[in-house]
Amino acid sequence: MTAALNLLKRKNERIAKALIPVKAKRSRSGENGGVMNHAIDNLMKEHQLILRVLASFNSLAGELRNGRSVSRRDVADFVSFFREFADKCHHVKEEDCLFVAMNQIGFARESGPIAVMLSEHTAGRSLVRALWEMAQLPGPLTAGEVRRIIAGVSEFVPLLSGHIGKEDNILYPMARSAIPGEQLLKLDADCEAFERRAMAPGEVAKLHELAARLIAAYPADSKQFETIAAGFSCH
Ligand SMILES: [Fe+2]
Repeated sequence: MTAALNLLKRKNERIAKALIPVKAKRSRSGENGGVMNHAIDNLMKEHQLILRVLASFNSLAGELRNGRSVSRRDVADFVSFFREFADKCHHVKEEDCLFVAMNQIGFARESGPIAVMLSEHTAGRSLVRALWEMAQLPGPLTAGEVRRIIAGVSEFVPLLSGHIGKEDNILYPMARSAIPGEQLLKLDADCEAFERRAMAPGEVAKLHELAARLIAAYPADSKQFETIAAGFSCH
């Protein structure tokens, strides 16, 4: 695993080098570097919850690999969390608020870091859609479906955890340092308005409850969580 972690570190360094030269206007004196920002802090908190549920989804795949049965309902609940919280609440908020704010100060949507993030959102949606369609079918999971779930989790978990690592370590710090203070305040307001518009009253709290249930039902130990958070799936 040490060799694999070193490999990931080198991969992230290469990605960072590729992303950093993107031309964008910086705030006048870089005065936002290191300053806390409500909207970006919230997005990072959401990442932590998503990583916890990803680690549990990986545990569900481990159960299936070990020949234990898992209910179709549990698969559907995981997929609901990724559709409703990770995508509808979190990714769309990034797309409609953060990426818009970054675009307004010179970050292109069609190339560079935002384009990379958008393409990963699209890839994640397609994997989740396939799992969602399967989870809606009746009856216990078939052997073929179990194989497809294991394959889907093996692809989706490292995709989304690697994506989160790039945002936490590269994109968000870049946004904090480049977006001027008054636009960061507008970003806070935009994110709050987005959530009121996109999510029904109480919906976010219900999704947190769902996450807590899934994390308790399919626990991942701290080593497994760290491996997932570093962008791997662990078998
Ligand atoms: Fe994100």
